[in-house]
Amino acid sequence: MREGSSPLIRREDYTAPAYWIRSVDLTFDLDPAKTLVVNRMQVERNPAVAAQALRLDGEELNLTRVLVNGDSVSFRVENQQLVLDNLPETPFTLEVRTTCAPEKNTQLSGLYTSGGGFFTQCEAEGFRRITYFLDRPDVMATFSVTLKADATKYPVLLSNGNLVEQGTLDGGKHYAKWVDPHPKPSYLFALVAANLVCREQKIRARSGREHLLQVYVRAGDLDKTEHAMNSLIASVAWDEARFGLSLDLDRFMIVAVSDFNMGAMENKGLNIFNTKYVLANPATATDADYAGIESVVGHEYFHNWTGNRITCRDWFQLSLKEGLTVFRDQEFSQDLVHSPSARAVKRIEDVRTLRQHQFPEDAGPMAHPVRPDSYVEINNFYTATVYDKGAEVVRMMQTLVGRDGFARGMTLYFQRHDGQAVTCDDFAQAIADANPGSALATHLAIFKRWYSQAGTPRVQARGHYNADARTYTLELSQQGLPSPGQPTKEPWVIPVAMGLIGPRGEHLPLQLVGEDAPVGTERVLVLHEERQRYEFTGLDVEPVPSLLRGFSAPVLLEDHLSDADLLHLLAHDADPFNRWEAGQRLALNRLLGAIRTGQALHLDAAYIEAMRSVLRHPTLDAAFKELVLTLPSEGYLAEQLEEVDPQRIHQVREAARLQLAQALHHDWEWAFETHQVRGGYSPDPVSAGQRALANLALAYLCLGASVTHDPVWPGRTYQRFKDATNMTDRLGALSALVNSHAELAEAALQRFHALFRDEALVIDKWFALQAAASEKDGRVFARARQLLSHPDFSLRNPNRARSLITALCFMNPAAFHRTDAAGYVFWADRVLELDAINPQLAARVARAMDRWKQLAEPYRSAAREAIARVAARAELSNDVREIVTRALA
Ligand code: PHE
Ligand code: ZN
Repeated sequence: MREGSSPLIRREDYTAPAYWIRSVDLTFDLDPAKTLVVNRMQVERNPAVAAQALRLDGEELNLTRVLVNGDSVSFRVENQQLVLDNLPETPFTLEVRTTCAPEKNTQLSGLYTSGGGFFTQCEAEGFRRITYFLDRPDVMATFSVTLKADATKYPVLLSNGNLVEQGTLDGGKHYAKWVDPHPKPSYLFALVAANLVCREQKIRARSGREHLLQVYVRAGDLDKTEHAMNSLIASVAWDEARFGLSLDLDRFMIVAVSDFNMGAMENKGLNIFNTKYVLANPATATDADYAGIESVVGHEYFHNWTGNRITCRDWFQLSLKEGLTVFRDQEFSQDLVHSPSARAVKRIEDVRTLRQHQFPEDAGPMAHPVRPDSYVEINNFYTATVYDKGAEVVRMMQTLVGRDGFARGMTLYFQRHDGQAVTCDDFAQAIADANPGSALATHLAIFKRWYSQAGTPRVQARGHYNADARTYTLELSQQGLPSPGQPTKEPWVIPVAMGLIGPRGEHLPLQLVGEDAPVGTERVLVLHEERQRYEFTGLDVEPVPSLLRGFSAPVLLEDHLSDADLLHLLAHDADPFNRWEAGQRLALNRLLGAIRTGQALHLDAAYIEAMRSVLRHPTLDAAFKELVLTLPSEGYLAEQLEEVDPQRIHQVREAARLQLAQALHHDWEWAFETHQVRGGYSPDPVSAGQRALANLALAYLCLGASVTHDPVWPGRTYQRFKDATNMTDRLGALSALVNSHAELAEAALQRFHALFRDEALVIDKWFALQAAASEKDGRVFARARQLLSHPDFSLRNPNRARSLITALCFMNPAAFHRTDAAGYVFWADRVLELDAINPQLAARVARAMDRWKQLAEPYRSAAREAIARVAARAELSNDVREIVTRALA
């Protein structure tokens, strides 16, 4: 843990570095207890900055020697920095020797051990835990790295770039030397020394260049690497085809490690991955896992250009690489499927994630702009806002300039900035400059408020049909709510993709007053003032507006549509996203009504029939049906309310689920029977959609049986659980039993554990399923608390810790928010325990309380008390302190 309290770092305080480090030669003598690092740097003054001392960052290092041009010099260590005065005016060599203790590194930042091997994680500021350095992204150097280690324990020695030399050493050791020709910031450095095996494949790129692709895993996991390799091959091909960006390395490696704080890391040529995003076979991984691997492999690969070739000037620009790269991985996954409806399914899933994570963040104490203005701990700003809202900002640019225009903008961005460390402004400028005359170029200054203003804009839409004039007037207005440090907001540029739908479901031609002819049946209105009016003409019938198609902007839309309008859109909208949205809105209206009034929920025939006709629809995809028939989550419902009683939300949502189960019983039986996938397992979207719908049907059938006490469906579900030939079906059946509190759930859980006791990622699912189960009489919470002392549980492994704690505190509001405050006590205890082990992870868990001010009593007071208890702890990390301080502010 760091000493002292760290200051607020401000974006406006940025200054260029006083020195450049042009190249680095590192030698590692790897030992778990004491690793020796010899670091030789070529350093020169930055003439653009006033002469001053050189200050190198370092953390938890033992410094043993400092030489300048081979001679010992005087130095001091001050505020965790190595300070050197009186340095030569001309370029010089600086050698620094340090030692560190990888086996004691439980934070998993810097050099650490996992499963008997060595791994690194340097983003954002982990390199300073390996050696003294200018650990900031605008200092880029070429790296040459020599690794020395025991040859039997660590047969595989990897670092960035190309392997140039290897051999044996005395004392049973061996060595390998790697050279990375591409200058890079320190956060992209990586090394691995471990006992691993690899799947490899040679590919020939469009350009004709040959590349060696490798996926490294532990010996027993080789049969789980095919999907990651295929995803990597597809990623290489996609970036060439869509953006003309090819792989710039002879060799590209992915290494899987089971102790990892995040999903994966884009180190140059040596991506290090959480095993969760590499390992999959049909028996152990679900369709969702397969999809997650595809997108994370894509994401890290795409960083090679957006992040590595062009990197961030400073960490405030994090979204420059993350927002853009999330956008790219979303587009990649969409482009891999061929039907428009499968593309829409992916879009709906992405929007659901955004609304579930980013919208609450933007409305709570951690709200910050996509390009933040200040931070205490940068690790706390790897957020849904920087990633997912950042991706929406890039998507809006593409909407405003068109797909081809966006590709031109990317080309210009690389022409201008390849090899540089730049800002979000540079990116937006390149896209705009490549598209003169576009709405983006015209409104660029206003558009860039998406980078500077926090909070989700609210858009109001009001329409009026004038039968005599045959016109339809649409008035759009926007408004921003205050957020921490930003009391007032100015208008944003908001692209509103839209259409008008006639009474027979026809899509009406869109002609604005003043235009000679209609411009198709879909167009993008660009709202850039507080209020704008659009008058459509030539309309013989009153339309229902379909607004914000494909979720064309990350806003909260209030369109004042009636139930009848929403039913009309659900039945007829050509835009699948809005069709889904209409179904969700119908459910929301009913659920929120019951939650607010306290009256019993009664799902009316119109709603039930609408759901039945989607379910039975002859042409809609199963995956799409599953999304429509899934009710909005408890978390999303909470976000719609002024004051939140999590128990009431749960009660009403469960009532709705039960009514859907009962009213559609025969339809669920039909859906289950008719959506069986035969033959071998394939994660393709059509089969995955069928499995998803069959699993949803099974969940409803078991839920229905929980009140009729009819043993048939639980029995069939248990049988299916036992006979399943893939994890999606097995986990689906298990989940149906557990969530309906069937008697057979216990036996199934035991059997599941026995079957998969040696598969860590599957045991994570076992914990998560139980902790996220539908709460009933406090049983789920009690079970989760018991599971803390299960022999397989541990806080040291982030995946395992999350499997229980995140599942309970983030994914299960009804089990977590208890009138006796036991959930909050559980939370505070875990945050404090984790903080001593892994502050980054502790700070993530701490955010479960972000929205406490929205809670009704008695939850609110109890929540404040729990947060205050954490905040009162003296020896708290900066990471957790920043979160709880903001929460209490
Ligand atoms: N840069 C990684 C990604 O988004 C995420 C990450 C951040 C991983 C910090 C580790 C530490 O791909
Ligand atoms: Zn990323």
